[in-house]
Amino acid sequence: MNARKGIILAGGSGTRLYPITMGLSKQLLPIYDKPMIYYPLSVLMLAGIREIALITTPQDQDQFRRLLGDGGQWGLSFTYIVQPEPEGLAQAYLLARDFLDGAPSAMVLGDNIFFGHGLPELLAAAEAQPEGGTVFGYRVADPERYGVVDFDAQGRARAIIEKPVQPPSRYAVTGLYFLDGSAPERAARVEKSARGELEITTLLEMYLAEGLLNVQQMGRGFAWLDTGTHASLLDAGNFVRTLSERQGQQIGSPDEIAFQQGWISAEALRARAETFRKNDYGAYLLQLSGLE
Ligand code: G1P
Repeated sequence: MNARKGIILAGGSGTRLYPITMGLSKQLLPIYDKPMIYYPLSVLMLAGIREIALITTPQDQDQFRRLLGDGGQWGLSFTYIVQPEPEGLAQAYLLARDFLDGAPSAMVLGDNIFFGHGLPELLAAAEAQPEGGTVFGYRVADPERYGVVDFDAQGRARAIIEKPVQPPSRYAVTGLYFLDGSAPERAARVEKSARGELEITTLLEMYLAEGLLNVQQMGRGFAWLDTGTHASLLDAGNFVRTLSERQGQQIGSPDEIAFQQGWISAEALRARAETFRKNDYGAYLLQLSGLE
């Protein structure tokens, strides 16, 4: 079977964070000590995915390339794809069609941050499903801001509604989508919504209608953080700082994950640590390499 490929959608104009995002892509903003995109990238890496497409606006692509390169430093392979105009999340599957070449995929939104004990196991279960798709439902206080799951009396998902005025439940669909190889073909059949977007929820409903969508609960032990407002951006940074300082462990480190997955050697990790020798991140990686 075709190995699952990854997509990070990092387009969009980030207007809600203006003026900060007038000169810099949202997904490059700092979440405490790392650029935002490191966190969703880490999620794909924890799922064992090594071939990843990065979808950006035309004007921001150079900055992403400068930060992330070709992925070789982490034993990954990156393909850069431009999104000329943002036309909705489902558009990503049209843009990535050639890249995917029939393979199943995991798409993560470049501004979504996940943290929790047991995350690798949750991802492994989604990864192991060959057909259909898996999305994650997460309880939030403000479901009207998201795609929301409507459950039937047996607790099975029967609909997913984008930004409902009257949410049928408190379960938002997070920005992490495991879909099979038919996603681009289905995305081509998605019609634009009233707000003019190719909605991911319309694509998910196609899977749901065929009984091919698994809505997996991401329980209260997980953090799914929002970075959509100035306050939530700061909160996410403080969350990462609080936990990582208390535990003395990094959150969202592609360097650490690449090493633990066996994709880079201790020597390569030490070389990375050397790049960051002036800060705690470098010291952490050096210690991890065991080559002090
Ligand atoms: C998008 C999706 C929505 C999903 C959310 C997760 O919303 O349309 O279904 O719940 O991402 O972050 P947006 O962030 O584009 O408003």
